[in-house]
Amino acid sequence: MKILQLSAISPAAVTALRRDHEVVDGVGVAQSDVATLTPGCEVVILRSGTGLDRQAVEAADALRLVVRAGSGTDNIDLDALAARGIALERVPGPGADAVAEMAITLMLALGRNVVTADRLLREGRWAKSELTGARLAGKTLGIVGAGNIGQRVGHLGTILGMHVIGCVEHADHAARERLATHGIELRSLGDVLASADVLSLHVPLTPRTRHMLDRAALAAMKPGALLVNLARGGVVDEHALRDALVSGHLAGAALDVHEHEGARFASPLVDLPNVVLTPHIGAGTREAQDEIGRRIVDIVHHHATTGAVPLAAQS
Ligand code: MLT
Repeated sequence: MKILQLSAISPAAVTALRRDHEVVDGVGVAQSDVATLTPGCEVVILRSGTGLDRQAVEAADALRLVVRAGSGTDNIDLDALAARGIALERVPGPGADAVAEMAITLMLALGRNVVTADRLLREGRWAKSELTGARLAGKTLGIVGAGNIGQRVGHLGTILGMHVIGCVEHADHAARERLATHGIELRSLGDVLASADVLSLHVPLTPRTRHMLDRAALAAMKPGALLVNLARGGVVDEHALRDALVSGHLAGAALDVHEHEGARFASPLVDLPNVVLTPHIGAGTREAQDEIGRRIVDIVHHHATTGAVPLAAQS
């Protein structure tokens, strides 16, 4: 089969795929050029960063399967896939633990001024007395979007001694029970915003969640709270967040995802000292990526040998 690889995945997986298939290397290609690579390809593999837009799908005359090497689908034109009956297989499971660990890492880094401390020390300043931090134990952790990833973050929060509250889109009895098994108390979004000392975002980016954390929602957050975003940059209005940080309403923020991603975009928060910025590395552990790579090989193998649209074995 001819496979178009649009994002870096584990090298072992690429080697395994090349053994039986032709793999076209489209890693790092400009978005405007993706449509020039899709014709003739039966499978497309991608992570976040590059998108599979309508133009690319329409040009993909042989496309039968898209493998999303991770969770989010905001970079894929799902309507265009559905219109052509093209299957989409996601691999959301392996990255979820990695993202959850990264969320806690960023909370601790913010609370204990780790990045500032490192920078000052490298500049020759022993700023011990200026770097008194805040502990997480005893604080309220609010999870916006307590699903696959969010509930893992909440569980880790409970282990650290935090009181964990969370909200979900469909707040029914089953959701309450599910969250309770992770030590998370189900609340409304308004309650979570108003009560959380640390707010962690884990919703997908959809038209409904775009700028969910807008000026009004940020103003509704508890004064002095910390914000952590490992969901999608578009969920937060970064300019409103900047104002909330500059005014002191929020004490700090850590963002792994950004409204505009890539080396050529500068975050509007880049000059603020109480902010930690990382380049969308939440799911980037060797363990997660190796496992995602193994599953991609299995999915492609299944498709190649049965010709079937893979079953929804997404975990
Ligand atoms: C995901 O949606 O799985 C993550 O954002 C990781 C990625 O694809 O880069």
